[in-house]
Amino acid sequence: METKIVAIDAGQPQPERIQEAARIIQSGGLVAFPTETVYGLGADALNPQAAQKIYAAKGRPSDNPLIAHIADFEELPALAAEISDTARTLMRLYWPGPLTLIFKKTETVPFATTGGLDTVAVRMPSHPVARALIRAAGTPIAAPSANRSGRPSPTKALHVREDLDGHIDMLLDGGEVGIGLESTIIDVSSSRPLLLRPGFISEETLKKTLKRLAVDTACMEPMAPGVHPRAPGMKYRHYAPQAPLTIVRGTDAQVEKAICFQAKEALCAGKNVGILCASESLLTYRHRLKKEGCRDCQSGRLLASCVCSLPYKDGEARLMLEVSGSRREPAEIAHHLYDALRSFDRARMDVIFSESFECGSLGGAIMNRLKKAAGYHILEV
Ligand code: TXA
Ligand code: MG
Repeated sequence: METKIVAIDAGQPQPERIQEAARIIQSGGLVAFPTETVYGLGADALNPQAAQKIYAAKGRPSDNPLIAHIADFEELPALAAEISDTARTLMRLYWPGPLTLIFKKTETVPFATTGGLDTVAVRMPSHPVARALIRAAGTPIAAPSANRSGRPSPTKALHVREDLDGHIDMLLDGGEVGIGLESTIIDVSSSRPLLLRPGFISEETLKKTLKRLAVDTACMEPMAPGVHPRAPGMKYRHYAPQAPLTIVRGTDAQVEKAICFQAKEALCAGKNVGILCASESLLTYRHRLKKEGCRDCQSGRLLASCVCSLPYKDGEARLMLEVSGSRREPAEIAHHLYDALRSFDRARMDVIFSESFECGSLGGAIMNRLKKAAGYHILEV
């Protein structure tokens, strides 16, 4: 299958391009499109065959349910059997926006979309392209993140192409997305609201409105064997780059020292090494690694990523430093996280070390993704 790539204006999507994409959705095809969180892989949420195509294109386990995206409040009663007061409050505060709510489903929603569950996840995105596409298609659009299952979510059209080119009908290229982490998910299908996935709308912020908000343990801890998380997707390895990733945690100075030590060991063994760090520590790494014998440091801007290499006995191993953003701007770190993880893959790194980013109220969402990407491999120093 050839994937048609269509450039679209993120602020004012061209109507004829949206119409073309909407016709594909209506005829049961797959269209990747930008949302304010990450790119989604869309299909008609009410067409079981179309939903199944999403699972096939992503290589996604069929018990992992999809989020149905709507553009207007009137579309909700067709999907959600009960809408509690808590749900109404959250919708009023955060829709359209990066919040997904889990409701008991109506009969209209096929089990192919909900992975066999009797609940349905619904989100009303704020991105103009997503909203225009849903309206033009005239049906809710089921859309997981538009990546191969297990890989970092796509925040640029390039990432969608890396994973799904040739497997989907169309990609609407609306440039880079804004937030860069997937939506916050709250289960409002029972009396006590339950946070299933942290996101841009943080646990801290939500607790100001929802005093009784419970938090699913799968948000931050690895699942014990035999335990079933409430969001089935939380049990799979996720967001992962190809090379093994280790998070190093401790004071800044200890972390910098430990990462440099580990990096040098790996380089001397001939491995290419990626380091993910905050902009505040980039100069320290460059300085330390130079002292360790790294040379040919090529970098663009002073605080951008840089690549250097270290000669070892059989040749030369490469080291790549990627800056995720400033610790004072956690939104910047969230925005750049998946792109940084993917850039290590493109540069064929063999091992990756990352600092820990427990900063601000977004720290919970960032670390949720980073820990899963690392398979919970954390080195405490
Ligand atoms: O920001 C987002 O949410 C993006 C954009 C495209 O909207 N979508 C997204 O979808 O992240 P996905 O499929 O990658 O993640 C959806 C998560 C999965 O962990 C899934 O298990 C959970 O939502 N989920 C979906 N329906 C559910 C349900 N009925 N009950 C519990 N969890 C559910
Ligand atoms: Mg996903």
